[in-house]
Amino acid sequence: MIITNNVKKTKRILNVQKLDNKVIGFVPTMGLLHEGHLSLVRQAKAKSDFVVISIFVNPIQFGRGEDYGSYPRDIKADSKLLMEEGVDLIFCPNQKDMYPSDFSVFVDETELSQSLCGKSRPGHFRGVCTVLVKLFNVIVPDKVYFGQKDYQQALIVKRLINNLNYDIKMYVLPTIRENDKLAMSTRNNYLNDNERKDSRCIYEALSLGKELIKQGETRVFVVVDKMKNVIMKKRSTKIAYIEILDAVNLKSLKKIKGKILIALAVYINGTRLIDNIAISVK
Ligand SMILES: Nc1ncnc2c1ncn2[C@@H]1O[C@H](COP(=O)(O)OP(=O)(O)OP(=O)(O)O)[C@@H](O)[C@H]1O
Ligand SMILES: [Mg+2]
Repeated sequence: MIITNNVKKTKRILNVQKLDNKVIGFVPTMGLLHEGHLSLVRQAKAKSDFVVISIFVNPIQFGRGEDYGSYPRDIKADSKLLMEEGVDLIFCPNQKDMYPSDFSVFVDETELSQSLCGKSRPGHFRGVCTVLVKLFNVIVPDKVYFGQKDYQQALIVKRLINNLNYDIKMYVLPTIRENDKLAMSTRNNYLNDNERKDSRCIYEALSLGKELIKQGETRVFVVVDKMKNVIMKKRSTKIAYIEILDAVNLKSLKKIKGKILIALAVYINGTRLIDNIAISVK
């Protein structure tokens, strides 16, 4: 396993692999890896010849006052896990290569980013799209792997790949959960025991939403209100959003019907967690 932090060297290594006709699989991450990340790595391993994972806490996707400075980092622990998975290359780019002092070109998705996390974290997806374009240009992957936990991100990346004519096949893989169904997330590390218990209300709310819809409820506000009640029972919580949208274009719905997304972002004493369920309603 090779670890690089330099763009030129990384490009050289990947050029050699490509000349050898190797299929390059790529998993972008911000590190402090968990089973959610590893599920992506395992798929990449199964479907490609040379697996690259990037670890980069991307400053431009964090808003002012967010946790960029305190975001947990442990490259040693991450490399150990990735070695066991048989990853070929870890790319941890240095700041200078990613954002030189004259950095002034950004990539902006302007439609799917209008709702959910795009709305509650202005500039977030501009940061995500920009860093991904840079990473894709360095790695030139054939296949990339993303998680459904970040449903909106996955839709935006799919759009980016199509709109910008990348020859990349994208895979979106299911959300990996803890035993009590909390979606795995690096930010779960911020939670103390009580907060960790309270965080169960996130999946409880999603499940309630799904159940109400299955029972025939078609009014968005009724389902959202009942979900809100579940979250607000815990004193540590603050709701950033709970929304039920069209799962294909993320537009709001008059009536719950077709392929829909129930998505939420909730703060547990300041730790922002997201989760979602996509379902088809006849
Ligand atoms: N529980 C999960 N199951 C499947 N994929 C996941 C899960 N959590 C994250 N991913 C995916 O891993 C990739 C890298 O995500 P990232 O490094 O931001 O991890 P994270 O756990 O989402 O961190 P954070 O808590 O800071 O948002 C993304 O494609 C993301 O969707
Ligand atoms: Mg994330």
